[in-house]
Amino acid sequence: MSEHSANPSTAAATGRPRAVKAVIPAAGLATRFLPATKAVPKELLPVVDRPVLQYIVEEAAQAGIGDVLLITGRGKTSMVDHFDRRPDLEERLAQKPDLLAAVKRTEELAAIYTCRQPEQLGLGHAVGYAESHVGDQPFAVLLGDEFVKPSEPLLPAMLELQARTGGVVLAFFEVDPAETKRYGIASVEPAESELTDIGEVVKVTGMVEKPTPEEAPSNLAVLGRYVLPGKIFDAIRRTPPGSGGEIQLTDAMELLRTEGTPVHAIVYRGTRYDTGMPLGYLQTVVQIAAEREDLGTEFRKWLTDFVNTDASGGPNT
Ligand code: G1P
Repeated sequence: MSEHSANPSTAAATGRPRAVKAVIPAAGLATRFLPATKAVPKELLPVVDRPVLQYIVEEAAQAGIGDVLLITGRGKTSMVDHFDRRPDLEERLAQKPDLLAAVKRTEELAAIYTCRQPEQLGLGHAVGYAESHVGDQPFAVLLGDEFVKPSEPLLPAMLELQARTGGVVLAFFEVDPAETKRYGIASVEPAESELTDIGEVVKVTGMVEKPTPEEAPSNLAVLGRYVLPGKIFDAIRRTPPGSGGEIQLTDAMELLRTEGTPVHAIVYRGTRYDTGMPLGYLQTVVQIAAEREDLGTEFRKWLTDFVNTDASGGPNT
């Protein structure tokens, strides 16, 4: 993304400001991971030696976003602690520069703000709580249980596109048609001559939250990254409960679209890690561990031996 500055900037063609704040909705109960998530927020489950939430804040920081609002809930204060200073720990690590740097990094990534969503009434409802922090400016939303490979960044291109269109910018990935019930699904048409380093740009012609395979307009699913204009807050207020009886962000965006706000999306061809369910979480841990410079070689060797060995310890036949 050579033409994109890492710092918040203005899109040259339009003079519109680039979003400089990110909102991470992270108030959910994570029932899929109980009892592990009874006292530990799922956003703090480790992927090797960093919690999921840190990868997400790093993704924002890498895109030049240094202001992050966490929408939290009861029992989730430790998420904020993770990004706070720990002078006592830093003092103890004075002779261990690598560990000290790793600890300090969490404190320096971004300015972290929080607000509480007292009841979990849906993703749209959660994002609505960000209004007093972001005002009428565009902002990014990063869902708290998925992230993309740092070497295949998605957010910079989304921020740039939003500054050009002034509308809603989404990212899609292709899903098995049988899985549409888990995602927001969109119908699209080609956008004129738009191409980014990380995927084709399309114009969205309709969105529906968690349709059955029969109802789904395509197999393009909404990925957990959004860049939204400030007017989304008014749309959220006007959005009735939808799928699952919850106030859905997809429905609020669809309302804006039908009222004339342009909605574009990048069909992301990079690697997306989804830690929202135990299987995806395990896959993420294995993939990241296998790619780590310090652990990868040894881990891959062990993994190869492991998959070639049956559960009783003998070789597979
Ligand atoms: C949310 C959104 C959905 C999106 C998905 C991506 O669903 O409502 O539109 O496709 O994230 O992970 P959830 O995972 O909260 O059910």
